[in-house]
Amino acid sequence: MPDFQSILRTIYNSATSQIEKGRVATYIPELAKIDINNFGICLKIVGGESFGVGSFNTPFSIQSISKVLALAKAIELVGESIWKRIDVEPSGHPFNQLALLEVENGIPRNPFINSGAIVIADILLSNLKDPKTDFLNFVRDLCGVDDINYNTSVALSEKHTGFKNYAAANLLKSFNNLENDVEDVLDFYFHQCSLEMTCSQLSNTFYFLANDGYCLKNKLRLTRSQVKRINALMLTCGFYDEAGEFAFEVGLPGKSGVGGGIVALLPNNFILTTWAPGLNKKGNSLLGMTALEQFTTNTKLSIF
Ligand code: DON
Repeated sequence: MPDFQSILRTIYNSATSQIEKGRVATYIPELAKIDINNFGICLKIVGGESFGVGSFNTPFSIQSISKVLALAKAIELVGESIWKRIDVEPSGHPFNQLALLEVENGIPRNPFINSGAIVIADILLSNLKDPKTDFLNFVRDLCGVDDINYNTSVALSEKHTGFKNYAAANLLKSFNNLENDVEDVLDFYFHQCSLEMTCSQLSNTFYFLANDGYCLKNKLRLTRSQVKRINALMLTCGFYDEAGEFAFEVGLPGKSGVGGGIVALLPNNFILTTWAPGLNKKGNSLLGMTALEQFTTNTKLSIF
């Protein structure tokens, strides 16, 4: 087996030189306070050890990475019927773009752009007894720890400034693609995005997507076919208008968040999570993309 600890250390040392090139997200005021110098990487081998460097045990705002977990929960609850309300095509546009939603009559292109994730939040609200608590317990159970929490300051910060998400939710409502009240759906969505986790916890949480649906506790969470579909969506839609670039440079299914996190995985092999809050122009972690590219190029471990 390759010396993964030393591979991660080499990548960490070489990528760090670019730390000042990224920009921390400021459109959610609470996120603007994060120190750009954080950088962590955690690799979890399926059926094997974990390796970490830098701030891989520091919790951060997982933001859009949570959309994968919300999608998994929605599929667990209501199965394939969700695809009547959301498409599975890449958008080629930024995560908060609204034009396509109007043109396509309120059917979001995919579950990872904001409008799609808001429909998923609506499905969870309709099908969970106590949505925020039940979703938190779902994530804690996948991860195998009890101390994962929402950051209410981040959720409130986004509530006060999330005008585009209000616009998306109202547009969805006008097309009858939202069952619940706009306020309730967005309250859930903002909390979901505010979840705080470490690179190490994220690698453990995403284990089931690299392990044919079996989570770390060896419990079957989704079928192999459902996992295949989520991974396909991460590959084609996980980076919005940079999904092609991520496939081209890294070659793995992955999901980014504006908190600076990225989770990527190679089915039946590993889950690799990075956190570096400096973002590139498309809103994805600059160091994270660099580190992942170096990892798959150096180790030749990618789906291609
Ligand atoms: O809705 C938003 O704008 C944020 N809560 C999440 C955006 C995000 O993380 C996009 N991903 N890179």
